[in-house]
Amino acid sequence: MTLAAESKLTFPKGFGWGAATAAYQVEGGWNADGKGPSVWDIFSHQEGKIVNDENGDLACNSYYFWEKDLKCIKELGLTYYRFSLSWARLLPNGTTCNINRKGIDYYNKLINDLLSNQVTPVVTLNHFDLPQALEDMGGWASEEIVNIFDEYSAFCFRTFGDRVKFWITINEPYVYADLGYEVGIHAPGLKQPGTLLYQVGHNMLKAHAKAWHTYNNLFRQLQKGFVSLALNSDWAEPYDPSSPQDVSSCEHYMSFSLGWFANPVFKDGDYPSVMKSQIKDRSEKQGMAVSRLPEFTAEEKKMIKGTADFFALNYYTSRKVQHSEKPLDVQSFHTDKEAEGIVDPSWPISGVSWLAVVPWGLRKLLNYIKITYNNPIIYITENGFAEKDPPSLEDDRRCDFYKGTLLEILKAIHEDKADIRGYFAWSLLDNFEWSYGYSIRFGLYHVDFKNPELPRTVYKSGKQYAKIISHNGFIYAKE
Ligand code: GAL
Repeated sequence: MTLAAESKLTFPKGFGWGAATAAYQVEGGWNADGKGPSVWDIFSHQEGKIVNDENGDLACNSYYFWEKDLKCIKELGLTYYRFSLSWARLLPNGTTCNINRKGIDYYNKLINDLLSNQVTPVVTLNHFDLPQALEDMGGWASEEIVNIFDEYSAFCFRTFGDRVKFWITINEPYVYADLGYEVGIHAPGLKQPGTLLYQVGHNMLKAHAKAWHTYNNLFRQLQKGFVSLALNSDWAEPYDPSSPQDVSSCEHYMSFSLGWFANPVFKDGDYPSVMKSQIKDRSEKQGMAVSRLPEFTAEEKKMIKGTADFFALNYYTSRKVQHSEKPLDVQSFHTDKEAEGIVDPSWPISGVSWLAVVPWGLRKLLNYIKITYNNPIIYITENGFAEKDPPSLEDDRRCDFYKGTLLEILKAIHEDKADIRGYFAWSLLDNFEWSYGYSIRFGLYHVDFKNPELPRTVYKSGKQYAKIISHNGFIYAKE
């Protein structure tokens, strides 16, 4: 192979190799050592919410078994590890009126252990698990959350920011708002279609921006870190590329997912114009005096614009998108969009029906981000493949998924010149997969949930990932 061809199979020097987890999905210890309940504790304890009525009370028990996780991180050779803080473990009722020392100790240990093993921590402040005490006060639907989140963020920057340099304020505001407040299959399980999720998204954007400013004004100079929010998106490919309607529906689809949060933060402080006009128009036709999508004031737009130091992207899948006229009597986010995402029958499906395997969609999405948001620094903060339970340790399909995806990222880096600095596999471990419970598995490590020791065993895909990491790409010839 020529040197030029070899370099196309190699990642840039210093490329970040990571894996990700989230507190509620792995920690367990749900009421240990003074932790307060989160919305996920309350939600998953209700009957009928989760497959087999499972919950994260124990999960991978990482609260007690952190050393086992660290061993996996070291075995893989990760240079980055993304995890989230359980807000209610640190601040049991959500505010700094009551600080839980044991929670601080736990995360200090994680951070210090990572650093002493040359692993850079990437810390998410809120990954779906709002303290229940705050939900009882209105949660993300109430504007009060903006100041409360700011107080929590400042507390975390002050407590851990001497060592943590990568912060993600909120994980996937789109999924958080849609599944938690519109569809109701995630905590807190509310269903007020077409209204509440826009209010929630609005407050999340303001909360994120305020926290970024707090970091910028009070901590950045000393701590020299980076703050962003993790945005998820499918890639939308026109169902019929020769149909102008399908092509413009893709723009709707992208605006209502990625653009909803990326435009305000990375572009102009405001929602995409398609989203504003579409919701306003439908709200008017539905007899409402104002749009169901709240508006930002001029001052708020100024406050939100530019509040990210890098682009954190979570990508899983793609859709073929078709225009679809929706009746006005149905008021919902999905009808507002007037675009239908369809899985192409030729795409392989993972162990969960929504996750069709489309690695090339990621390359297109990375290009779209590069062009739309002015060539930002990008970290792919989540990407992964689900297997059904019970899984085989020989997870060949996941091996192909990771290989295919990483090859597309290489093309985005070398051919399209996208500025991609790191990649995080979802997930380090099999874990509690929200409404699916333990029925599907995303790990690079298998977890035996029937064994009280919860042993972690590497999958074939984990071994493959370690090999790619150790070669910083796909040139193994010298072995
Ligand atoms: C993301 C989420 C993760 C994980 C993953 C796989 O939306 O951030 O927590 O569950 O999906 O479904």
